Amino acid sequence: MAVFTVGFIFTAILLTRGLIVLFPVTPGKIPLDKIPTSWILLVFLDQFHNFFLVNTDLLPFELRPLFYRCLGTKMGRNVRIGGFIADPSLVTLGDNANLGGRCALTCHVVEGKSVSLGTIKIGKNALVGAAAMIGPFVEIGEGAVIGGGSLVTKGTIIPPGEIWAGNPARCLRKRET
Ligand SMILES: CC(C)(COP(=O)(O)OP(=O)(O)OC[C@H]1O[C@@H](n2cnc3c(N)ncnc32)[C@H](O)[C@@H]1OP(=O)(O)O)[C@@H](O)C(=O)NCCC(=O)NCCS
Repeated sequence: MAVFTVGFIFTAILLTRGLIVLFPVTPGKIPLDKIPTSWILLVFLDQFHNFFLVNTDLLPFELRPLFYRCLGTKMGRNVRIGGFIADPSLVTLGDNANLGGRCALTCHVVEGKSVSLGTIKIGKNALVGAAAMIGPFVEIGEGAVIGGGSLVTKGTIIPPGEIWAGNPARCLRKRET
């Protein structure tokens, strides 16, 4: 079982890395009928990673930073990842960022006849609550907090030190320092 799991993880990483190097994912709006095959393959691999390794907890929390780093996420030190990341090469996580259990960082959203692909930036010491969902083009400032189960919609910019929650997420207050 251990050999199978390790082989599975390495194969998934190698395939994804290869695709990212050969066909880098770039932010923008793509008509649904013009989506490059390379991105469709990356989404398939993402689903494969996230559903079989992350959502099943086959991949322990402790290994997730290393795993997502291998898939192209830019990451500071001491990051904790309890949820999953789709389109990992478009995500940046600052030092001590904490992604709560079952949260989802998704850098794409389908809108009508096109798909928008955008980066997600999570600042240093920020906390994304359990089961929250973060969309593309979102920036979460240093030390900000996103409430459990919240939805941070496309393009939201959350200033440093603020607590946001709800669907769609709204500012509740400033975090006490
Ligand atoms: C967002 C959070 C930090 C707010 O905590 P708080 O400042 O103590 O807020 P309160 O409990 O006083 O609630 C203030 C208001 O926000 C609302 N609220 C709080 N958390 C909310 C959430 N997750 N989603 C929606 N609304 C929320 C409350 O209903 C309340 O609304 P009201 O003023 O209309 O009554 C906290 O609720 C939270 O979700 N923390 C994240 C925990 C977590 O998931 N950690 C990761 C574990 S792996």
